[in-house]
Amino acid sequence: MKLVRIHRFGDSSALVTDQVPTPSPEPDEVVIHIQAAGINPVDFKIREGDYPPVVASQLPVGMGRDVAGVISKVGARVEGLQKGDAVYAMAATGRGTYGDYVAVRASEVAAMPSTLDAVQAAAVPLAALTAWQGLFDHGHVAQGKRVLIHGASGGVGHFAVQFARGAGAQVLTTARAEDAPFLEALGADQVIDYRHEDFSAQLGDVDVVFDLIGGETQQRSFEVLKPGGMLVSTLGEPSQDEAHRRHMRATRYTVQPNAAQLQRIGRMIDAKEVSVTVHESLPLKQAARAQDVLQCEHIRGKLVLKMAA
Ligand SMILES: NC(=O)c1ccc[n+]([C@@H]2O[C@H](COP(=O)([O-])OP(=O)(O)OC[C@H]3O[C@@H](n4cnc5c(N)ncnc54)[C@H](OP(=O)(O)O)[C@@H]3O)[C@@H](O)[C@H]2O)c1
Repeated sequence: MKLVRIHRFGDSSALVTDQVPTPSPEPDEVVIHIQAAGINPVDFKIREGDYPPVVASQLPVGMGRDVAGVISKVGARVEGLQKGDAVYAMAATGRGTYGDYVAVRASEVAAMPSTLDAVQAAAVPLAALTAWQGLFDHGHVAQGKRVLIHGASGGVGHFAVQFARGAGAQVLTTARAEDAPFLEALGADQVIDYRHEDFSAQLGDVDVVFDLIGGETQQRSFEVLKPGGMLVSTLGEPSQDEAHRRHMRATRYTVQPNAAQLQRIGRMIDAKEVSVTVHESLPLKQAARAQDVLQCEHIRGKLVLKMAA
């Protein structure tokens, strides 16, 4: 089978399409015949050697975490899933979903939402789980809270806006000015143009900042939080000294597979409570270009690779 891998760290020219053995499932795994693979920033961070869990001694590694497709093989101890089931999942780092087949732990697989095609479904797992876990498991966002989402127009952000709105929060966002209509349609109450406006001069009394940007944006976020507020970041570890000094909490987390959350998100999608925005889908042979687009160009929502039928 085909699998896009890297044998060295580098730019997108490091991606190569290899012929590798089709995986066989461990007893607790299923093998998914991949129809589409979502692209995430972690893919190009791994490629560049900028994701510490993946080190040079592990190369070659497969590219891609997000998968949507159909189960082709079922491990001996798996219950409740069958060959032919349409599913989506976040595969373990390094297995690779830019290809034909991937083995995934059965407990981390969920039924593909029935209202989505495979391209749309592949846009969901990593980004939506990150948004869900950041807002609810770590940020404890609930009805009436004031939430600021940085980087709201991207993969994680466009789900986070909808989840926070659905929970009854007041949703404040930073994004490009031209993304304001997109984000308002998803439920944002306010969109601050990060390129021309200073959110820290405009906002205050925020309960939760969901930081998808890091760096100086993260540092300035302490200024808008209320005492007792919470900064939740997917990027650099926030300063605990700063948080303590201001009587706030701050955390950085890594998204975890969670089939129950993925099922729940799928039900919300099928109920039209949450929409999935796919900016563009590209064929597998354009995997390198797709990573370059995500890394360097402005997109709304997600980019997805579509496998040949
Ligand atoms: N810890 C974890 O487990 C975890 C999980 C998922 C994601 N992440 C990380 O979280 C980050 C976001 O992921 P993603 O998938 O949502 O990425 P993405 O799709 O690239 O979205 C990022 C968004 O941020 C916008 N942006 C850039 N600079 C900004 C700024 N200064 N202020 C506000 N918005 C800005 C970008 O828009 P422009 O086009 O205008 O630049 C883009 O829409 C990535 O760094 C990713 O690696 C971590």
